[in-house]
Amino acid sequence: MRYIGGKNLLLENINNVINDEIPNVSSVIDLFAGSGVVSNNFKSIGYRTISNDFLYFSYVISRASIKLNKKPSFKNLGISDPIKYLNDLTIADTEYSISDCFIYNNYSPVGDCNRMYFQPENAMKIDIIRLTIEKWYKNNLITEDEYFYLLASLINAVPFVANITGVYAAYLKFWDERTYKKLELTAPAIISNGKRNECYNTDYTNLLSKKCDLLYADPPYNSREYLPNYHILETIARYDYPEIHGVTGMRNYDNQKSVFCKKNTVASAFETMIRDCQSKYILISYNNEALLSTEELSEICRKYAVDDSFKLFEYDYIRYKNKIPNNTDGLKEQLYLLRRR
Ligand SMILES: C[S@@+](CC[C@H](N)C(=O)[O-])C[C@H]1O[C@@H](n2cnc3c(N)ncnc32)[C@H](O)[C@@H]1O
Repeated sequence: MRYIGGKNLLLENINNVINDEIPNVSSVIDLFAGSGVVSNNFKSIGYRTISNDFLYFSYVISRASIKLNKKPSFKNLGISDPIKYLNDLTIADTEYSISDCFIYNNYSPVGDCNRMYFQPENAMKIDIIRLTIEKWYKNNLITEDEYFYLLASLINAVPFVANITGVYAAYLKFWDERTYKKLELTAPAIISNGKRNECYNTDYTNLLSKKCDLLYADPPYNSREYLPNYHILETIARYDYPEIHGVTGMRNYDNQKSVFCKKNTVASAFETMIRDCQSKYILISYNNEALLSTEELSEICRKYAVDDSFKLFEYDYIRYKNKIPNNTDGLKEQLYLLRRR
């Protein structure tokens, strides 16, 4: 999934720093997992991987791809290919009525709603698939692993039919070509690393006591909160019929505002993380135009680093689309490494 601040293009640098600078890594915690791309990279290398994010849809994605080491069997369900079954489902095959369909009623232009996030057919498909997965789980027809495997396949499919330019903070005023495609679930790729990987959906402070060889931290860089940009994925994942408001149909997110997104809390947020974490090494992704300056973050790192173990690595920012290094604006991706006292 394309994700704000996603580290797809920095994975090689992250791996090189770990290989070159940190001896004997076997377990890693990814405290701000987002799209899960870094956790997946750690898992595929063979590290025991713990991933976390305070957004629920992010947790759903990681709960399938990180925690599971094999595709679930769905042996209780009595349906040989549940992904295909869900793809073929129509509302007529279910007991649901239009009023149950939250996405259809609120994010597609039907009735009084004029929000153009999804074509009505795809919006309704999202609803009946989501409702069916929930019903199977409540009726003990699928296990928790199977539940998250199917939910992750739904979350992963949504961006391919959404009428947006990348985030859900606004919808396009015309129908993009991709919205005419039928929503189609695909089976999440599950690899095994043979380890007991873990996933959490909590504030980062609740996991600082976890002991790992390495804590990888990729918190937000600026004041742009994540939830408003992904509010519809959060609602599909939770399916909690929230109160929504405004042009975009935003859910309330008072509990999901980040201390890393505020100038007056970001320094203490980093200090809490570095001071209280129980992992031996800390590797932080940040950039040189973020809320906290390079000097300020370096200062905090030095304060808690063993001897001269603090190192800063900088890389020219790589544009997502054309992968051409963007040297003109001086933006640098950074990796801060330290061994904790
Ligand atoms: C820069 S993104 C991480 C991107 C991720 N590394 C990737 O490659 O996709 C930062 C993430 O931190 C999460 N976040 C922000 N504040 C948090 C907090 N206090 N506790 C847990 N997660 C938080 C956001 O939801 C967001 O997904």
